[in-house]
Amino acid sequence: MLWSQLLPCLLVALSPAWASSSSSSPSPTPSPSPTQSAPPPAFTYNRTSFLLHGDPFVIIGGQMDPQRIPAPYWRDRLVKARSMGLNTIFSYVYWNELEPVQGEWRGGAGGSNDVAQFFRIAGEEGLKVVLRPGPYVCGEREWGGFPAWLGAVPGLTVRGGNGPFLDAAERYLRRLAREVAGLQVTRAGGPIVLVQVENEYGSYGEDHAYTAALRDVLKDAFEVPLYTNDGGVEWTLKGGEVPGVLAAIDGDPRSGFAARDRFITDESELGPLLDGEYYTTGFDTWGSGTPHAGASEAQVQRYVEDLEFVLAANNSISVYMFHGGTNFGFGNGALWKEAGGKGYTAAFVTSYDYGAPLDESGRTTPLYETLREAIARFVPAGSVPKAPRNVPLSGFANVSLGLGGALFDLLGGMATGMRRVEEPVTMEQLGQSYGFVLYRHIVAASVSGVLAPGDRARDRVIVYVNGVRRGVIDSTYATPATVELDLAQGDMLDLFVENLGRVDYWSRESGTVSALEDQAKGVKGNVTVGGEVMVGWEVFALPVETAPVFTPGSGSERAENTINAVVEGAPPVFFHGTFLVDPEAAAAGDPAALDTFLAVPDGVKGVVWVNGFNLGRYWIVGPQQSLYLPGTVLRADRENEVVVLELEPRGDKLTVFGEVERTWANYADPDYDG
Ligand SMILES: *[C@@H]1O[C@H](CO)[C@@H](O)[C@H](O)[C@H]1NC(C)=O
Ligand SMILES: *[C@@H]1O[C@H](CO)[C@@H](O)[C@H](O)[C@H]1NC(C)=O
Ligand SMILES: *[C@@H]1O[C@H](CO)[C@@H](O)[C@H](O)[C@H]1NC(C)=O
Ligand SMILES: *[C@@H]1O[C@H](CO)[C@@H](O)[C@H](O)[C@H]1NC(C)=O
Repeated sequence: MLWSQLLPCLLVALSPAWASSSSSSPSPTPSPSPTQSAPPPAFTYNRTSFLLHGDPFVIIGGQMDPQRIPAPYWRDRLVKARSMGLNTIFSYVYWNELEPVQGEWRGGAGGSNDVAQFFRIAGEEGLKVVLRPGPYVCGEREWGGFPAWLGAVPGLTVRGGNGPFLDAAERYLRRLAREVAGLQVTRAGGPIVLVQVENEYGSYGEDHAYTAALRDVLKDAFEVPLYTNDGGVEWTLKGGEVPGVLAAIDGDPRSGFAARDRFITDESELGPLLDGEYYTTGFDTWGSGTPHAGASEAQVQRYVEDLEFVLAANNSISVYMFHGGTNFGFGNGALWKEAGGKGYTAAFVTSYDYGAPLDESGRTTPLYETLREAIARFVPAGSVPKAPRNVPLSGFANVSLGLGGALFDLLGGMATGMRRVEEPVTMEQLGQSYGFVLYRHIVAASVSGVLAPGDRARDRVIVYVNGVRRGVIDSTYATPATVELDLAQGDMLDLFVENLGRVDYWSRESGTVSALEDQAKGVKGNVTVGGEVMVGWEVFALPVETAPVFTPGSGSERAENTINAVVEGAPPVFFHGTFLVDPEAAAAGDPAALDTFLAVPDGVKGVVWVNGFNLGRYWIVGPQQSLYLPGTVLRADRENEVVVLELEPRGDKLTVFGEVERTWANYADPDYDG
């Protein structure tokens, strides 16, 4: 059909999905005369343009997810987005953090789960919002944003049209809509202008009934137009297209836009060109051989040219990421890899710096300046606010931490559950989502040979015999280390298993099994030594959601120090200590002046809490060597408490300090010489 024949009133009548179902031509109902014209829809589109209150609107967007940013810094980051020339923020929402336990909603007021508040501030700062609610978001997040409990629901397959998954996904989307639907542009001019259906679904599957079902839920819950976002090649576009939903692409806009118009033939999916994820730089995975992602001068030049290519034609784009933020706690996902028919993983680091225009701590970078200048050439003169000034990072000198307690001595207080079983049970069967599981077995009869921790390492298995580390079997490696044991009757065998982050991306062209489906953590299957099944286990659930408190005077719930000496090869140990912030930085009265990067220079692998806030994981392999410590969790007026769970302690002391300048580096893995 000819789009120019559509009268504005017809757009109103059909808004938001003017070509709703799979039939592409709106019926030619008689139109009222133009003189009695209703106001144009708040936000819609024709074949070539997004239309905001009837006027063409080019989306100059950037991605920033509220749940990766400390809530007190939301406005700062949004103001800086506006000051780079962006007019729209694209945000994923992480279902697993909003509904960590089935049926228990953790959204609402305060904290980084209050996504509605983030969108409200975006609106106040003159930004539109593109909502990307999932249920699957990829995003280098734990299981692409899926809550771990989905893995324990019988008959449930993620990203498919099966009843249990659709029920759970629909409940989540409707619950989220209750919080954010009032912020649509259709309701008193809120900021939300578009809502995404699924995410890059075409890379994963071709179940069009599934995506149509999600579309129908979203159409019922929201009024603004919907869109899909897929890689700009034929097979992903064809797998991901949804009738009545605008098809957008990601990646290279030149080939992607051409592919969109070539392979999307259903008129009801056509409209303006949008590159919904234009990648600048990229993510980091843990590993001695994986340096921090950066962009060469030539790549930056290419970003500018691509931006110009899109904006010169009045097409729309979103920079992924504008600001990455942090996978605080256990928030990171992992990549699935296959070699020689065997799967292994590459877990994403705690930092989601991404080499983005705004760095992990919210400071502008040279890339920010470059993109700001490029955007300024396409918007009315003077419409981009002044560039912000960067507040310098703070720091603190070496703090020597003392021994707190040995994790295995604190099982009574730390374990959220214990099961005595014949065969190991998985983390999910324990009702646990993240963290660690300890499997303990008392050897019944002498046995020797290679240890197999179930069907495969899920993900990092530290093996101890009588409290002494004997090796680490780690899914980070295609061929994990072999741990050979010689066990006598009565020996205590401990397998301490870390969930390194569930895989968040799997493509139907990339492998033989869907790694996205089998995400069980802990031990799945029997543990064998020399081929003999070890029967009889005590299994301790150790989500370590909070750190024990060791500091004197911290109250009655304070944990007792359980050890006074640590030798190389000992099981995990808590260290603790206190530090004061730089008084000069504190005098500024701005939490950002206290921002620092906390380093654990003698640490191997572990987790850090400051004032009870989980900063995330560190690992000597790098490239990340320090953890973003936002000033918002620090106390300017008294001591700050730091607790470190070091998984592989090498002595009685551990040092931490706060870097005033961030460093990246890679070192050899002391547990792997393959
Ligand atoms: C879409 O709307 C814009 C702005 O009103 C107009 O310039 C353009 O011609 C329209 N495109 C089509 C195909 O109708
Ligand atoms: C882009 O939009 C501007 C402002 O509406 C207009 O002047 C210009 O001609 C458009 N350029 C193209 C290539 O459509
Ligand atoms: C801080 O501690 C680290 C690790 O123990 C050590 O290498 C470094 O020399 C110390 N720095 C200072 C200034 O004492
Ligand atoms: C574990 O081993 C026992 C034999 O001891 C066997 O009966 C059971 O089927 C095995 N479980 C799995 C999951 O292979």
